[in-house]
Amino acid sequence: MAKPIGIFDSGLGGLTVARAIRGAFPAESLVYLGDTARVPYGTRSAGTVVKYAIGCAERLLSFDIKLLVVACNTASGVALGELQARLDIPVVGVIQPGARAGVKATRSGRIGILATAGTVASGAYERAIHSVNDAMSVFARPAPLFVPLAEEGWVTGDVPRLAAQRYLQPLADVDVDTIVLGCTHYPLLSETIHEVAAELLGHDVAIVDSAEATATTLTEMLDTSSNVSAQPGSLQILVTDLPAQFGSAASRFLGKPLQGLDIRAIDL
Ligand code: DGL
Repeated sequence: MAKPIGIFDSGLGGLTVARAIRGAFPAESLVYLGDTARVPYGTRSAGTVVKYAIGCAERLLSFDIKLLVVACNTASGVALGELQARLDIPVVGVIQPGARAGVKATRSGRIGILATAGTVASGAYERAIHSVNDAMSVFARPAPLFVPLAEEGWVTGDVPRLAAQRYLQPLADVDVDTIVLGCTHYPLLSETIHEVAAELLGHDVAIVDSAEATATTLTEMLDTSSNVSAQPGSLQILVTDLPAQFGSAASRFLGKPLQGLDIRAIDL
């Protein structure tokens, strides 16, 4: 049987990546781990996130995965090197693909990043963007409240708009033309982010979602001949807490009936 792809995030956000991978490679089987007992990662120290990331990766290895996708920017920012050194399968993060997509999208060379406090502190986006093009101006800002809003499904209306106004004003002040959603939870709020950013800037702005960019990166790594198979791959979901709550959010998000989801609680 073909080996699955392992994917992990602190919670629901990484499903944006799982959805993009599923769309691009429908025949691939996926095992998704949401570390819901320890979400959020973005407010914790780098050392703690590295420890959590190793725990998630080790559990996914027990499913004999062929490739690991770190579908969390915070973990990609602080733990990718450590995971790549420890594992003897390919390990892909979301920051480099998001950075490349940001550079491709900008016209003015002024790129805003919205991310967790941990990702902003790691400086990972600045490094990744400058490794592609060192003439870019990068402005990274934390937007921590977007994580609980996304987990809650509260993605439009007054409350997310107010949060977006507060978080986006500093990026509008420096006149970015592109905003990279540097947290896998944030694409759930992309409509609100896009609208508020355009209002504050007075012009349209490109919103880059690193989930899509990450799925594109996998094209270079997967043997896509297996994707000609008419059989769709399986999706197994593991969570470290509250499986029922996660399941209903995930089914809303993936557009699948809850009964159709294979979701299991685990301990790490
Ligand atoms: N989804 C995660 C990220 O991309 C983080 C959310 C959190 O746990 O703080 O950074």
